[in-house]
Amino acid sequence: MNNKLWTGLSDSNIDKLLDEFNSSFSFDFRLWKWDIIASLAHSEMLSKTNIISEQDFELIKNGLIKIFKEIKENPSEWYEKNKDFEDIHSAIETKLTNLIGIAGKRLHTARSRNDQVATDLRLYLIEENLLIASKLCNLKHRLIELAQRDKEILMPGYTHLQQAQPISLGHHWLAHYERFSRDYERLCEFRNRLKICPLGSGALAGTTYNINRNYTAEKLGFISPSNNSLDSVSDRDFVAEHNFAIALCGVHLSQLAEELIIWSSQEFNFIKLHDKYATGSSMMPQKKNPDVAELIRGKSGRFIANLQNILIVLKALPLAYNKDLQEDKISAFDSSDNIKICLDIMERFLESLEINTIKLKELTEKSFLNATDLADYLVKKGWAFRDAYKATGQIVKHCIEKQTYILDLSEKDLKEFLGELSLEDIKELKEIITPVNSMLNRQSKGGCSPLKVGEEILFARENLKYKIKNIEKEINESINNPLKHWT
Ligand code: ARG
Repeated sequence: MNNKLWTGLSDSNIDKLLDEFNSSFSFDFRLWKWDIIASLAHSEMLSKTNIISEQDFELIKNGLIKIFKEIKENPSEWYEKNKDFEDIHSAIETKLTNLIGIAGKRLHTARSRNDQVATDLRLYLIEENLLIASKLCNLKHRLIELAQRDKEILMPGYTHLQQAQPISLGHHWLAHYERFSRDYERLCEFRNRLKICPLGSGALAGTTYNINRNYTAEKLGFISPSNNSLDSVSDRDFVAEHNFAIALCGVHLSQLAEELIIWSSQEFNFIKLHDKYATGSSMMPQKKNPDVAELIRGKSGRFIANLQNILIVLKALPLAYNKDLQEDKISAFDSSDNIKICLDIMERFLESLEINTIKLKELTEKSFLNATDLADYLVKKGWAFRDAYKATGQIVKHCIEKQTYILDLSEKDLKEFLGELSLEDIKELKEIITPVNSMLNRQSKGGCSPLKVGEEILFARENLKYKIKNIEKEINESINNPLKHWT
């Protein structure tokens, strides 16, 4: 079938293999909704500027809405019937002309597929951006709730995966919350750059028609039309930014997943996996595997690869549109499809975990997590920090040799190392350096004490409530009922 839009010079059908090679329908079909919406805005603008007649616009509008409903009703059937088209843009335009005749052939006036595809893709990614942001809000909400539940639960804090200082588990959840908050902010900031409309840039040089680019940009919910027509049709920075935002969010998910995997091991035994979110082994009956977390960790690899993919596609392209740009979509779609699942499943997985609080507490007691507190106590008694550090080091060494812990040493034993202190002081010291006090006393801003964690939670909750309201509003305005201007 010769269903090409570009047979200006060719008089024979192209080679079948080239035809298949050239086609993007299999992956750009999903742009259908935005392709139709952008065509509605474009044709309306053409009629407002008297480039096409009002009657033609009415015909185009009704035809496009009919196609919209047809696809919406049964996307897979429509896909199957039309998969021989070169891309979604050709398919919709041809279908429209079949439906309404010559008016359909006027739709592409003052437009090229180059500005068209850039516009469709931006609209699609704005929607994805909002959906990802909303899922990030759910995950952030879960982490806040976990932090609230676990803000008094003691656990070892690590650096280099070596026990460092006691912290609260709530504080640990909030650390992850911060990472996802940055991911959320990043998406929002970059959404503003997505909202620049290339439509009306033509193939590369603009157009001789007296079009109104502000009109289409505004109708489609963009902030403004783009500036330079050459840049507009070749710019895919927004795809790179989309892939980057997802790659970094994927890395954050992977870091969290990695911890949960370690924590669920028999050696750590910090958490117990819920049967609903764990898998077994076909051979070893005792196994309960954290596949969910492992897959999330694994998928971060593809997010990173997708970012590389778009950067490599772009790196040697001369201005303006080049067909290489057709390759922009697969990685962007793959990233958004997968990050949405990862965010959803991580949220549920977190909710399902059972915390082994006894094990966590025991670990903080049988440890040297309180060594810094000992040194800090001495400093508060007038010692220079380096001297305090050295004396504490000697005490820890002594304990290791005697296979005991600081708090298990008698006051007399401690006095041997801390001669300058009175027995009263040493009693006080033993009280201050219990793991729970060590956690409670870290009350500097951003510190791990439940008091500070509680303050952070209050702030985070308020902030999130506001964000969720905003994102819901934006989703309602731009995604739900996309035909609102035309029906
Ligand atoms: N399918 C093409 C893409 O995704 C549409 C643009 C075609 N433009 C062109 N000059 N061949 O990039």
